Amino acid sequence: MSAVRKDQATSATAAPAPLPRPWQSIQPHAAMPELSHDERVRFNVVAAMNHFLAQRLLPRVREAAARDVEPALEARLGRPAADRHEYRRELEKNLTWRLWSRLRRSTMELRQQAGRLTVLRQLPELVSTSRDLLKDSGVSLTLDPAMTPPRYLTSLPSHLMPGGYVTDLVDGDVTAGASYEIGLYATLGGQSGPASDRAGRATVAWLREHRPDWRPRRILDLGCGIGANTLVLAQAFPDAEVVAVDAGAPMLRYAAARTAALGGGEHIRFVQADAERLALDEAPFDLVLSLMVLHETSRPALQHIFATSFQQLAPGGLAFHLEQPPYRDKPLIEQCLRDWDGRYNNESFWSSLHDTDLVACMREAGFAAQHVHETTANAAIGDAAPGVQGQEDYGRGGAWYVVVGEKPAVQTN
Ligand SMILES: C[S@@+](CC[C@H](N)C(=O)[O-])C[C@H]1O[C@@H](n2cnc3c(N)ncnc32)[C@H](O)[C@@H]1O
Repeated sequence: MSAVRKDQATSATAAPAPLPRPWQSIQPHAAMPELSHDERVRFNVVAAMNHFLAQRLLPRVREAAARDVEPALEARLGRPAADRHEYRRELEKNLTWRLWSRLRRSTMELRQQAGRLTVLRQLPELVSTSRDLLKDSGVSLTLDPAMTPPRYLTSLPSHLMPGGYVTDLVDGDVTAGASYEIGLYATLGGQSGPASDRAGRATVAWLREHRPDWRPRRILDLGCGIGANTLVLAQAFPDAEVVAVDAGAPMLRYAAARTAALGGGEHIRFVQADAERLALDEAPFDLVLSLMVLHETSRPALQHIFATSFQQLAPGGLAFHLEQPPYRDKPLIEQCLRDWDGRYNNESFWSSLHDTDLVACMREAGFAAQHVHETTANAAIGDAAPGVQGQEDYGRGGAWYVVVGEKPAVQTN
């Protein structure tokens, strides 16, 4: 298996990536909200603003940190910063950082408000369309109205999304899922691909490379969100039974309708449940995944989710947990830039997750030490975003950190 890459995020000297693809490059489907001309332009402006912040202003933040922040810190302390927290306190006094951070927060607020307004003005139609799409589609949806969502999903709206993933505004609500899909483009500048499924495609590419000819018969996706990545897995393994779990009913209703609209996922069963404690009727799974879920959860919760992945895994199976990379070995300025989401974007456990030893957590969950390792998953060549091919680029460029656990066909521990 390949080692974790050194950080390759876009540097001040790299050529700027081309402008984001326009919002219209998104793959349309019948469950998706309709956008007026002005609504599309608003998302395009937010995406262009994010592009400017990442490509133009961020290099200036790095320069200001090296030129002003680090010398000031060393003059005051008589030594370099001991950790990113000490470094950040000095960085936050810097005007270039403050400008970048404030504008970044504003683009996130704009994305969420624009997405929500677009969805709310057509919510009755979206609800009835999603119900109609599901009828006779073959895609299954099982909700649990009695389920209490974990507190980390209800106490703060994650990445400033009003109501988070779990709030139902009306009967049959799809607001969270619909606004998540249309708004993701603006944050990622279209870099997750037309169907917002780059992580799923990177996962399939990893499986093809590392387990060629493997055909998992049962797949479990923990925290499936709008099911975009689940659908890629389902299409890659059309003979598999796929169970996709999420805590949020409005995410799942949209996921199921979206899957029905796009086709190819009739063998997916969407289930509302807490991935921390899962009781399913199915036999154990050959492949258990979580894609960009762990940062939404608490430290105890991620341990429970790893335990779920161990318990639900069949002998010979593979657990695959994909995230952005740990901070270890990264310069302090890089750690602070990456930590922005944890401090200013309501990603409460983001910071601690990136300090957590996920290999140790997998072992604690039951995986034998020799069967756990770290790797990277990359979008297929030619499939990565223009300008960031092969770069990890904060989760947008098509390359991720993964912790993998295998359960041998014959248990050795
Ligand atoms: C950032 S989204 C990622 C969705 C999806 N995996 C993807 O790649 O697009 C995180 C999802 O995890 C779900 N989630 C977080 N904690 C959960 C838990 N304990 N049980 C079930 N779902 C959970 C949230 O509701 C949300 O839909």
